[in-house]
Amino acid sequence: MKRLRCGLLGAGMMGREHLKNLALMDDVSVVVVCDSNAEMLGKAQGLAPDAQFVSSVSALLAVGIDALIIATPNFMHASQLLDILAVQNLPVLIEKPLVTNLEDISRLRAAMRAREAFVWVGMEYRYMPALTAFSNQMGAVGAVKMLSIREHRYPFLQKVENWNRFNRYSGGTFVEKCCHFFDLMRLYLQADPIRVYASAAQDVNHLSERYNGEQPDIWDNGFVIVDFNNGTRGCLDLCMFAEGVKFEQEVSLVGDKARLDCRIPGPFQSANDPATLAEIVISPRSPAGPVTQMVEVPDHALHAGSHQGATFFQHQAFWQAIRASEAPGVSVDDGLMAVLIGLAAQASANSGQAVSIDAEHFRLVSG
Ligand SMILES: NC(=O)c1ccc[n+]([C@@H]2O[C@H](COP(=O)([O-])OP(=O)(O)OC[C@H]3O[C@@H](n4cnc5c(N)ncnc54)[C@H](O)[C@@H]3O)[C@@H](O)[C@H]2O)c1
Repeated sequence: MKRLRCGLLGAGMMGREHLKNLALMDDVSVVVVCDSNAEMLGKAQGLAPDAQFVSSVSALLAVGIDALIIATPNFMHASQLLDILAVQNLPVLIEKPLVTNLEDISRLRAAMRAREAFVWVGMEYRYMPALTAFSNQMGAVGAVKMLSIREHRYPFLQKVENWNRFNRYSGGTFVEKCCHFFDLMRLYLQADPIRVYASAAQDVNHLSERYNGEQPDIWDNGFVIVDFNNGTRGCLDLCMFAEGVKFEQEVSLVGDKARLDCRIPGPFQSANDPATLAEIVISPRSPAGPVTQMVEVPDHALHAGSHQGATFFQHQAFWQAIRASEAPGVSVDDGLMAVLIGLAAQASANSGQAVSIDAEHFRLVSG
């Protein structure tokens, strides 16, 4: 089978996680890595020994690739994607969040409607083995009514030039971090959002940091309630000063017959230690009692990143879709809708008011 030639734009923490996972793909070669920061290019060199290392997008595209991974800071995604597709209509896997503001939602939708492009948004939680096992058991809950997602974890890590310390670069915590969870809500509830209410603040983290004299403005905890157009509801509980907990994410789906839980350990446990495996629990309403299943992640996938194997399985699906000429597993509309819910949550927590969503037109409606 012909090896597909892959390029990477952005060789920071996540870009290098992509390189580690790409090295595990039998039928893909990374032929070019582009980053504007020489130190980051240096760190990537050992992970892609056969690649060229360049510092501009034009040099990257000149190498000749079959597909591109974009893993640059959030606020760059929309312009880079559109600029690149204007030059070459390549399959692209672009990191989340796809955009960071309402203007770019409109801009990207309009541009993508005007062209045929294969763009896959990196909502990789969909491909995490624990959540795949969870989704395989969803039928047990009966008619789905509620989904709650708790993420209690460590603070935001340091990024190149600290772009994640400011809402204007990241989109805000509910966009940057939580778009994953709003995407899962849409996927598992099979519905689009109609209303969001949120409460959030920056209470503990980054308060004493200064960048060019400016204090970070990113929130570190909050609650978000989302009403969906099929009568179901979702709830997100986020805390980013809780690194001591055993499970980083806890996902609970409740239907009229049972509750289904998925508990996912954080990235710092040792590989497949039985004490720290993810678990799936089905608790029927009948007296039968709960049934627990542990979920192992293959070692190679677990070790190639800090996302419980999700990056590996996302890559498998991405390259398989390209080879089979299938549609992207996570579409531009999926990526934009996850951001829209995040922006609604940001707006609601700022105003203290519920924010309605016009999902058909990808718009927020105040009041
Ligand atoms: N899917 C996930 O679970 C997940 C996890 C972490 C990060 N991410 C996403 O991945 C993206 C990158 O995050 P990160 O943690 O790697 O950040 P990072 O700061 O570590 O890396 C970003 C890289 O982009 C480079 N860069 C900046 N401007 C550039 C330009 N014009 N051209 C080329 N390179 C440029 C920087 O030098 C840096 O190396 C973000 O969108 C982030 O939200 C996704």
